[in-house]
Amino acid sequence: MARPTTIHVCSGCGHQSARWHGRCPGCQAWNTLVEERLPGPAGGGRARAAGGGAGIAVAAGKPIRLADVSTERVPRMLTQIGELDRVLGGGLVPGSLVLLGGSPGIGKSTLTNMALGNLAAAGRRTLYVSGEESTAQIRLRAERLTPATTGALDVPVLAETDLDTILATLRAERPEVVVVDSVQTLHAADLAGAPGSVGQVREVAGRIMQVAKSDAIAVLLVGHVTKEGALAGPRVLEHLVDCVLQFEGERERTYRTLRALKNRFGSTNEAGVFEMRSGGLVEVLDASARFVAEATGKPGSVVLAAMEGSRPLLVEVQALVSPSELVPPRRVVTGLDRNRLALVLAVLGRHAGIGAGNADVFVNVVGGLRVEEPGADLAVALAVASAARGAPLQAGGRAAAVVCFGELGLTGELRSVGHADRRLAEAARFGLHGVVCPQSAATLRQALRAVLPARAPQAA
Ligand code: TYD
Ligand code: MG
Repeated sequence: MARPTTIHVCSGCGHQSARWHGRCPGCQAWNTLVEERLPGPAGGGRARAAGGGAGIAVAAGKPIRLADVSTERVPRMLTQIGELDRVLGGGLVPGSLVLLGGSPGIGKSTLTNMALGNLAAAGRRTLYVSGEESTAQIRLRAERLTPATTGALDVPVLAETDLDTILATLRAERPEVVVVDSVQTLHAADLAGAPGSVGQVREVAGRIMQVAKSDAIAVLLVGHVTKEGALAGPRVLEHLVDCVLQFEGERERTYRTLRALKNRFGSTNEAGVFEMRSGGLVEVLDASARFVAEATGKPGSVVLAAMEGSRPLLVEVQALVSPSELVPPRRVVTGLDRNRLALVLAVLGRHAGIGAGNADVFVNVVGGLRVEEPGADLAVALAVASAARGAPLQAGGRAAAVVCFGELGLTGELRSVGHADRRLAEAARFGLHGVVCPQSAATLRQALRAVLPARAPQAA
């Protein structure tokens, strides 16, 4: 009988088993067994064990003093997509492995096609490996991209899911940049698990990385991440790759943000904003201008001076408070953390006398952006208060756009958040001087007094 070539190892306790079990026989944890390849029969495994046992020394490594380590600067490859290059830390590093995660339909294939097209137009050897789409489908997309991305149709493509074939192609074609779309669709023949399983994804990425490092190929691995970021697949790769980029936004909306969650060659503070148009993704260079121009200034609307990475960004936050028939009433939030809304509502009711009670509350960041920072608390509070009173916010006693930022403490105080100077400068750039922030108000009550008229001009 043929010797099994794989083994199932528990990622928790290390228990090894020839068969897969839903529950680890060692530590009784569920879903922890991951399929791994056994080292080849004549391979390093046994030789090494024998060597160690007989006390025969394996040649020792030679540590080098850091100051003596040579660091040749390899020029980076620019994708010509400014926002992408910036988030990468100044372009793609040859031989690096970048994981691009995002939910299906967000535009990962579009972004990588455009990047490869630009690189091809700049004379780089590229390769697009797709395990998801046929070559005809890829061509159709490239045609849509063509006006803006001149090299989109010059990129060689390979529609393939077998890992060995792909690696052989890489060695034969020796491209400088490869996109693998997506890592979950590839299949390593020597593992039994289905494509996309943890064992497969790890094996696929690990072996691609070996080739990438030895041949100095920059690899962009595309990975699907579900809304909850749950899918085990790409997450298990985060420690392996050099850079993890997250592409997010609502599929139905136009705006998308690209963030670096990890970057060995640059800052993780950078973020880029894109808009999906008919000819592909377009960089939104001055997102603040767009959002400020669109802000309504009606009851329930406020402008938040948020930080997107190291850049300030003005976005509109809107709220609607309306009587509800439901028990409990609805609390719907888009673009913000649901739990923060609950906290803000509690603080508003307890410390500012504005209770949402049994009304439905809807809060929305306009444009489909996601704001994940505590600095958004005050914007939510002001928008809800303004909506509950049915009165627009005012600056200096008259109707004017109000900009705000700040975190809410549980005792009703306003807490400072990072980069106040940059946020204030961004508001000033648009001539918005009605700013409420922890520097101008100590408590939520004071902040409300500054921007909400004392008596609501309500009909009733
Ligand atoms: P896609 O890049 O295929 O998403 P992903 O690879 O992340 O799954 O594209 C997502 C959507 O973008 C798709 O529904 C069609 C739309 N789209 C445009 O609106 N304009 C375009 O130029 C292209 C190429 C796609
Ligand atoms: Mg795709």
